[in-house]
Amino acid sequence: MDIDLTGRRALVSGSSQGIGLAIATELARSGASVVVNGRGQQKTEQAAAEIRREVPDAEVTAVAADLASGAGADELFAKVDELDILVNNLGIFGAKPVLEIDDDEWRRYFEVNVLSAVRLIRHYLPTMMERGFGRVMNIASDSAVVTPLEMVHYGVTKTALLAVTRGFAKAAAGTGVTVNSVMAGPTHTPGVEEFVGELVGDDLPWDEAQRQFMKEHRPYSLIQRLIEPPEIGNMVVYLSSTQASATTGGAIRVDGGYIDSILP
Ligand SMILES: NC(=O)c1ccc[n+]([C@@H]2O[C@H](COP(=O)([O-])OP(=O)(O)OC[C@H]3O[C@@H](n4cnc5c(N)ncnc54)[C@H](OP(=O)(O)O)[C@@H]3O)[C@@H](O)[C@H]2O)c1
Repeated sequence: MDIDLTGRRALVSGSSQGIGLAIATELARSGASVVVNGRGQQKTEQAAAEIRREVPDAEVTAVAADLASGAGADELFAKVDELDILVNNLGIFGAKPVLEIDDDEWRRYFEVNVLSAVRLIRHYLPTMMERGFGRVMNIASDSAVVTPLEMVHYGVTKTALLAVTRGFAKAAAGTGVTVNSVMAGPTHTPGVEEFVGELVGDDLPWDEAQRQFMKEHRPYSLIQRLIEPPEIGNMVVYLSSTQASATTGGAIRVDGGYIDSILP
């Protein structure tokens, strides 16, 4: 399969680091022009520079905007008018006992993890539908279907994203636009590397540390290692392609087999 995204305009929300940056890099490697986003101008510019180093002929634009609010989304809309590929990657997570999560925290998680995606889809989907091509991907998580006790609010927002995906896919029925969720599993990002160090100790070589972490704390993973961010990027590249035209309204797993079920 030869995937060429030349001429496609893509945006990845929350892509100044981590999985978002890897997705943006893989889209650029496949020829798409990419908008990277984060809250700070400098960090977002650095991410764009990193992609240009990795993919020398990449067409990358950095747009700093806080997508947790409608006003922040409007700043983005003023700079990016049309898209072929929209990746709602932005998501926050953090452990908190469920009985201590107050209304403001619930609202914050909903605003950042769900409404940020809804706003961008609402804005960009109509022109995709008019033009007869578009790809929307919402980055969900294994936590969408296995609610984690240590961050119930996070899990709930990811469950909501699966329904958001299904709903907008129905709205785009028959137009040539696809809308899917990508359910990532435990992934090797700087935050997770720190977390692994805290749980198994900082003195082990990385490969051994992650093996021990997976065995003790993520025993259901079938790959028994963390997922590398480009592995999620590769799925996004495929779903962005014309070849993926019959996949829509779905929840596609890149979880290393972590979710112990036959269907997502
Ligand atoms: N890591 C995992 O193991 C894992 C597993 C399953 C699913 N996921 C999902 O994958 C996605 C990415 O996770 P990650 O671990 O790569 O995240 P991360 O390392 O924490 O990165 C989050 C990104 O979002 C940006 N950001 C934060 N708040 C923002 C806002 N209000 N407006 C715009 N940008 C904002 C951050 O940049 P600035 O700080 O510069 O704003 C950063 O680029 C999330 O949806 C997460 O739920 C992650």
